[in-house]
Amino acid sequence: MFDQLKDQPADKILSLMAAFRADPREGKIDLGVGVYKDADGRTPVMRAVREAEKRIWDEETTKTYTALAGDPAFSDAMIAMVLGEAVPRARVAAVATPGGTGAVRQGFELIRMLNPGATVWVPEPTWPNHLSILKHLGIPTRSYRYVDAQTLQIDAAGILEDLRAVQAGDAVLLHGCCHNPSGADPDAGTWDRIGALLRERGALPFVDLAYQGFGDGLEADAAATRALAVGGECLIAASCSKNFGIYRERTGVLMAVSTDEGVSKVAQANLAYLNRQNYSFPPDHGARVVTTILGDEGLRADWMAELEEIRTGMQGLRASLAAELRRLTNSDRFDFLLNHKGMFSRLGASPEQVERMRAEHGIYMVGDSRINVAGLNARTVPLLAKAMVEVGL
Ligand code: LMR
Repeated sequence: MFDQLKDQPADKILSLMAAFRADPREGKIDLGVGVYKDADGRTPVMRAVREAEKRIWDEETTKTYTALAGDPAFSDAMIAMVLGEAVPRARVAAVATPGGTGAVRQGFELIRMLNPGATVWVPEPTWPNHLSILKHLGIPTRSYRYVDAQTLQIDAAGILEDLRAVQAGDAVLLHGCCHNPSGADPDAGTWDRIGALLRERGALPFVDLAYQGFGDGLEADAAATRALAVGGECLIAASCSKNFGIYRERTGVLMAVSTDEGVSKVAQANLAYLNRQNYSFPPDHGARVVTTILGDEGLRADWMAELEEIRTGMQGLRASLAAELRRLTNSDRFDFLLNHKGMFSRLGASPEQVERMRAEHGIYMVGDSRINVAGLNARTVPLLAKAMVEVGL
């Protein structure tokens, strides 16, 4: 029977990872998959994570099941980190999920349960896996304009114009900060207008928050999400992969913010139900590490300090790449790199130019010219700038 199966389209980010590994060239540069790397190209275990793991090792006495929603202490800690004081705890339903992707998937499933006729609106561009999961679930999608192709900055007018066509009962996927792949985030005023428009249209905002702490800081990066949550119902998928550096532990949370405590209880039961249908109990180890760090003053301070080093390090790389490109081109046309937030920027290169950078310079980036800024270091910044100019950017 298995011969009935058809090949599935390869995930373009993951195939790039494989192509990079297979490339025998010494000086190859990996700006592909969104994984933080330090100046030596390593993805370190964060100090506080290591310490929390030691404590768990010493103190954990059982591996029995937690709860279907995961350990409630994890949900509490994540709700506090993402939402602060924006909404009362009793109006937030939450479940632990296997990574941010697990939360995204469960969120889409909840939307389908709420309204089987819902269309999910996604920014163009978005993380390719958003579209792939939606397709897999058979949920209809529409895209809204997001970045201006010339400036590579946010197209606020385009976003608002396209979202005016949203229907009541539809859901709109928004990247809470550090947009993947463009690096372009709306400003506070644009966020307010997006929120108001979605309320007016009766659509549900669904925030994917995968990079909190990588843009302007832990609090600032949550501001748009908090404003949306204050405004009414919304869904939030938050990931701990990047900001805690625990990619392989698969740690995330899905939150549903309601306007009524009674409704929130039903939402909580539905989220737990979805966990049971999909994988029963969510993974616990990463969640326990996160809860341990967020619940201990010393570990939390150390984690925040290291996260801040990571964030400012990426900003420094952006600044040196922009400066090098200014020097080589005698123009400021790459200064958009300084306005972009987080790990990613789209350079505006054509697929042919991306391919030339790979073939001629051993520089790997996603075909849409998305680079992972954290893949750079002081040695490779000038090499990338030179390659960009040589391929005609
Ligand atoms: C990325 O966009 O590179 C990351 O989110 C990793 C992934 O799973 O695609």
